[in-house]
Amino acid sequence: MKLYDGIGAADQPPASDAGPQSTREQRRAPRAKLRVVADRARVRALVEEGHRLAASFQLERALERFEEASSLDADNEAIVLTMNGLLRKLVPRWHFAMLNDHERNRAFERALEIAIGGSQCTVLDVGSGTGLLSMMAARAGAGAVFTCESVATIARLARRIIAENRLDHHVSVIPKVSTDLVVGRDIPRRADLLVIETVDCGLLGEGILPIVRHAREKLLRREAQIIPGRAKIRFQLLESDAVHRNNFAFEAGGFDVSLFNQVSTKTYFPVRLCAHPHAFLSPVVEAFEFDFERGPLEPRTRTVTVTTKQRGRVHGIAFWFELDLGGGVVLTNAPTNHQNHWMQAVQVFETPIDVERDEDLTVTCRHDDTSIRFSLA
Ligand SMILES: C[S@@+](CC[C@H](N)C(=O)[O-])C[C@H]1O[C@@H](n2cnc3c(N)ncnc32)[C@H](O)[C@@H]1O
Repeated sequence: MKLYDGIGAADQPPASDAGPQSTREQRRAPRAKLRVVADRARVRALVEEGHRLAASFQLERALERFEEASSLDADNEAIVLTMNGLLRKLVPRWHFAMLNDHERNRAFERALEIAIGGSQCTVLDVGSGTGLLSMMAARAGAGAVFTCESVATIARLARRIIAENRLDHHVSVIPKVSTDLVVGRDIPRRADLLVIETVDCGLLGEGILPIVRHAREKLLRREAQIIPGRAKIRFQLLESDAVHRNNFAFEAGGFDVSLFNQVSTKTYFPVRLCAHPHAFLSPVVEAFEFDFERGPLEPRTRTVTVTTKQRGRVHGIAFWFELDLGGGVVLTNAPTNHQNHWMQAVQVFETPIDVERDEDLTVTCRHDDTSIRFSLA
């Protein structure tokens, strides 16, 4: 219903002008006026509460208030824009680039087809997003698909998308973080297959290790397959003043601004390397291998010796993953892949290191549950 649409007392014809047909309108007028004032007050209260909740970072609850306000006042552009601002905070924009990454989509679909092959198995898809991987699993012949999504707004959308695609009888969306799922309550039995694509450019940033560790212990059958089953991290020493300048500043307008480097990114960030002048000063080296299905997933530190292949200035480390999705399907965000939405992961050092050709450098590679970090000696 549109509010403030002029059904107030001021818009009613004066009593003396009212013809016979107006009598009913006249009788209804006071009630209509009362309802508008009541709705207006309700909208104002909802908007105020929405802002209060948003200020205390309760974004989902804030969104609910604005949605209710908007249902009462559909033409209110301020409410629509506020909701959109909240949605942008709740749903990262990379979802769109990810969904349009056809190489990624095809790779997961192929891997699901090979793993499921009409076997009627039970699939758990952690991190629904739009429900894409769940719908692919259903199309590949899974018996039942359960998918959980930690962001309630995204889970609601996934449910609607799955229903639009007439797969709601095969796929159940559970609006929960995977580590809160309980077999027997949220899903009827342990799953035969886990598919998970909570992977950022540096592999671990979206929490795949703790998610898989928990799933292996609590949600999967002992012999369950995981897509991806394995992953490798590979790296090269990177020379790129252009990339370094994306994370450090020393002088601007003749002023020393280097104190600002306190807020530079200490871990890695995504870079499309082919868009920046750069050189690789070492061959490709393996940092870590992960076996998601059976291997240990605890934090590790490894030291490797890297021999430089040319003279130059090491600004940082470029690294990427190779995801083994099973059945020979491999997906990588290596620098040779110019299209994928992940780009490469780069960690830059505040003080670059000058090197000669054939120099041996000791690189320490560390990972914890959600990050990978390199240091040079
Ligand atoms: C990279 S997206 C992938 C979406 C979808 N699986 C696809 O491939 O198109 C990861 C999604 O997982 C959700 N997510 C991350 N960790 C989760 C967890 N532990 N439990 C449930 N959802 C999670 C995020 O909110 C996000 O929507």
